[in-house]
Amino acid sequence: MTPPPEIRRLTYADLPQVIAVERRAFSTPWSLAMFVLELSKPSGICLAALRGERIVGYLVCSRYDTVWHLMNVAVDDRLRRQGIAEALMDRLFEMADAPGEQYTLEVRMSNVSAIKLYEKRGFRAAGRRRGYYHDNREDAVIMWRTAPDETRSDRVLDADGALSQAAARQLKA
Ligand SMILES: CC(C)(COP(=O)(O)OP(=O)(O)OC[C@H]1O[C@@H](n2cnc3c(N)ncnc32)[C@H](O)[C@@H]1OP(=O)(O)O)[C@@H](O)C(=O)NCCC(=O)NCCS
Repeated sequence: MTPPPEIRRLTYADLPQVIAVERRAFSTPWSLAMFVLELSKPSGICLAALRGERIVGYLVCSRYDTVWHLMNVAVDDRLRRQGIAEALMDRLFEMADAPGEQYTLEVRMSNVSAIKLYEKRGFRAAGRRRGYYHDNREDAVIMWRTAPDETRSDRVLDADGALSQAAARQLKA
C-alpha cells in the first residue's frame, strides 16, 4: 500500500514545482502570479502534498465572506489514484470545518474524476454555470458541501508552521 503523503502549508518556495504539476494537469493552467496572489491572502488555506522533498499535489482554498471556495486542486499526473487529493481535502476540512461551515467550487462538466472526488468528500452538485470556461465554453458544475454538525474545529495542523486553535478560529472570523 502506498504511504499517505505529508501535508503541510504551501510556501512561495514550492511554486516552481507547483507550476510544473499545474502545467501538466490543466489545459488552461494558472500563472505563477495567480498562485502568488492566493498565497498572499491571510484567510486562505493553501496546502502541499509531499513525498520526500517532492511536491506531488496541492490545494488552494480561499474564504470569501462566510464561504470557503475551493479554487484549485491537482496531483502529479504520474501519481494519481493513490489518495493524494483525498489527503489534501481531508486536511483542509480538519483545519477549516466547524458545524455548518460551507464550501463551494466549480468544476468542468467533463471532469469526471474530480467530480467523483468531490462527491466522495461530501460535495453535491447544485447547478451549472453555462459556458463558464473560456477555452471551450464548457459548462461548470457548481458544487457545495456543508460541514456536518459533529465536526470538531479544534483539530489543527501540527509540526512546522502549524495552525494553533486560536489561528484556526481566526480563519473563520
Ligand atoms: C482530480 C484529481 C485532483 C484527483 O487526484 P487523485 O490524487 O488521483 O485522487 P485520489 O486518489 O485522492 O482519489 C480520490 C477519489 O476520487 C475519485 N477519482 C479520482 N480519480 C478518478 C478517476 N480517474 N476516475 C474515477 N474516479 C476518480 C475516486 O472516487 C477516488 O476514490 P477511489 O480511488 O477510492 O475510487 C487529479 O485527477 C488531477 O489532478 N486532475 C487534474 C486536475 C483537476 O482536474 N483538478 C480538479 C479541478 S476542478
